[in-house]
Amino acid sequence: MKSLRWFCWFSVSLLAVAVLMAQQRPPDVPYVPTPHEVVREMLKVTQVGKDDVVYDLGCGDGRIVIAAVKDFGAKRGVGVDIDPERIRESNENARKAGVTDRVKFLQQDLFETDIREATVVTLYLLPSINIRLRPKLFRELRPGSRVVSHDFDMCEDCEGEGSEKCISGWHPDKVLRVRGPYREHTVYYWVIPAGVAGVWRWSVQTAKGERQYVMTLRQRFQKVSGTISTDGRESPITDARLVGTQLSFALTQEIGGQKVTMKFSGRVNGDTINGTVDIQGGQFAGKRDWVAKRDKFNLIGTWQWKGGSIRIEQRKGELTASYIDGGKVTPISDFYAWGAGVHFTLDRAREDVYEGVVIGDQIVGTINGTTRWEAQRK
Ligand SMILES: C[S@@+](CC[C@H](N)C(=O)[O-])C[C@H]1O[C@@H](n2cnc3c(N)ncnc32)[C@H](O)[C@@H]1O
Repeated sequence: MKSLRWFCWFSVSLLAVAVLMAQQRPPDVPYVPTPHEVVREMLKVTQVGKDDVVYDLGCGDGRIVIAAVKDFGAKRGVGVDIDPERIRESNENARKAGVTDRVKFLQQDLFETDIREATVVTLYLLPSINIRLRPKLFRELRPGSRVVSHDFDMCEDCEGEGSEKCISGWHPDKVLRVRGPYREHTVYYWVIPAGVAGVWRWSVQTAKGERQYVMTLRQRFQKVSGTISTDGRESPITDARLVGTQLSFALTQEIGGQKVTMKFSGRVNGDTINGTVDIQGGQFAGKRDWVAKRDKFNLIGTWQWKGGSIRIEQRKGELTASYIDGGKVTPISDFYAWGAGVHFTLDRAREDVYEGVVIGDQIVGTINGTTRWEAQRK
């Protein structure tokens, strides 16, 4: 009985210490407020409006979410900060601004926060924290959601934003320079892309009957590339652009001795794309409806190649991946699934970036953008 009492007392004390330690976890980034003129540009570039739910991860004194609802008419704002002093300040500022009914502030770790309802996420953290946060943004935010970051991008190892050489980076869709009271600031803007990787099929009705098209799309964040096979010929797509769920690309071929360019554009909704194709040149010129369907795919399983294997599984509705080396299983934190496409970094120090498309029981892709990579489902 005595030992049971002692055990209970010991467990409760341990729990209390754990809770205290969790509360005392130091912030990953010190508090530095974003100047109001930069806040305005961040909310302007994301086009915050009445349908938006704006989350500021590491909200400081709450100024971004308060401005989002007060000055930009956002539906709601949620600020998250690990520091209780910041949360007190935020609540006080919301009260002064008269917006307490439309904002809330949560004292918690931003990595533990459920952000699935956000349509806009604002950040002023650090490059390494942005990189750590990146898989969570892709896991939890819906395609078309916007992300904006003050001063720091999502390309830890890139030399300057937009560098195409940096294959592990999530390059911004827009970069703005904003003059602050003391210095120039940079604002980076991204749109969460739909997952479009995979094999897509459609047919186009022509005067000579139906023409079948098979397109294999590869994806790295919002960058898309691929090839289309039709009539036994394979051609690369050009001008591919993916903004949220809006996909466009072009295909140029010689048909009957004439150069024909087809400009496809459509909205991705799961495994269907609905849109139009604008055929320029040739005898079938004109605009018509375009519907493409993606082949079924299954990412779940253990995938093996000469250099190793990964296990992809579904946990609590989310896909996770682990690297298996002999008996050792190591979770892969930088893992993304874009439709039938996978992308992960195995060793960030060595920059081993794997990217490929699941076709049946095979993944076909590249390591570091150059070396061919093929894995088989076990
Ligand atoms: C540079 S300030 C930015 C404040 C505000 N977003 C702005 O732009 O004015 C970073 C904030 O992140 C908070 N922070 C740092 N690590 C955090 C974590 N793991 N979870 C939640 N908040 C965190 C800090 O307490 C600090 O208030």
